[in-house]
Amino acid sequence: MSFKEPSSTQIFFTVAIGHTFGSFFWKNYVKSLNLSGNEKILEYGSGSGALSRHIAPILLKGGGSLTCVDVSQKWMSTIQKRVNNYPNVEFELGTIFDLDIPDNSYDAVVIHYVLHDIDSNLREEIVRALSRKLKKGGKVYIREPLADNHGMQSAEIRELMIKAGLNEINFKINNVRLVGESTEAVFEK
Ligand SMILES: C[S@@+](CC[C@H](N)C(=O)[O-])C[C@H]1O[C@@H](n2cnc3c(N)ncnc32)[C@H](O)[C@@H]1O
Repeated sequence: MSFKEPSSTQIFFTVAIGHTFGSFFWKNYVKSLNLSGNEKILEYGSGSGALSRHIAPILLKGGGSLTCVDVSQKWMSTIQKRVNNYPNVEFELGTIFDLDIPDNSYDAVVIHYVLHDIDSNLREEIVRALSRKLKKGGKVYIREPLADNHGMQSAEIRELMIKAGLNEINFKINNVRLVGESTEAVFEK
């Protein structure tokens, strides 16, 4: 699977913006998911932890847990430094195919600006694999940019989720601060 490790500059700016000024916006998005707190959640492509750091405390309070998965060694070491004080968070390096995660075991999968970065011919297989990890009734929360030069079409997201056996619960297009027009959707197994 081809992917590019981030440069030190990219890591620096992602953390500098995403974990400070951007934090407000990511926190609001997490709030909008209305998590109960007791869920077992898998965040796929967790990056620097910009979102994970807001999910983790909600789950800590409610008895839930978070698995942060990322294929990049550099993003993994960044998140491990930034989201390091939660006993309910675990980190897994690799793609969903590399990891020994049982099927039907998660209440939710969060995909936050990740799929568009993955080769289009690999997306279907990845979404199917993520769907298998969900319990019946489990949810996928997805947000992806719509920009032509760095994004993906809403219709493709719908198609991938339906092919993976997921039903649409909520689907909208929002103008997200710092990113621009984005598809924001929830699907259920
Ligand atoms: C744009 S970043 C988003 C990071 C994070 N979700 C956020 O919103 O801050 C995309 C992330 O997806 C990861 N990624 C790309 N391809 C992947 C794959 N096939 N499996 C798992 N993670 C992947 C990258 O390493 C990167 O951390």
